Amino acid sequence: MAGRALFVGLMLLASVTPGAHAATLELPPAGASSCGGCHAPPGVDTAVPTLHGKTAAEIVAQMQSFRSGAQPSTVMDRIAKGFTDPEIEAIAAWYARQK
Ligand code: HEC
Repeated sequence: MAGRALFVGLMLLASVTPGAHAATLELPPAGASSCGGCHAPPGVDTAVPTLHGKTAAEIVAQMQSFRSGAQPSTVMDRIAKGFTDPEIEAIAAWYARQK
């Protein structure tokens, strides 16, 4: 019995070996996981617009206009001010790759 449990455990370990899912699993860049706390994936009913389906250029442009105040907002102006241009570009590129 113990031997079987050990065998199953080893099989589970083998299935999560780093690199096994390298093609499908891409970790978000720094800061990107914070966006998902408010911006839900498509199909989830929330008042906050989804970021999925936007191009990287659209996200970068909106973040820059939130930061400058050109686009009025309740929270995004303050959030956008917390990120540098390279960080915003990395986050936007990552979101644009999520389907
Ligand atoms: C505290 C909740 C919250 C967080 C965290 C947050 N957002 Fe937002 N976001 C909003 C809200 C609310 C709006 C609507 C504009 C407003 O009122 O600020 C919005 C709007 C946007 C829009 C415009 C969407 C559209 O279709 O008009 C973009 C782009 C965006 N956010 C990007 C981001 C990115 C990138 C991050 C992570 C760095 C992020 N947001 C984190 C709440 C949030």
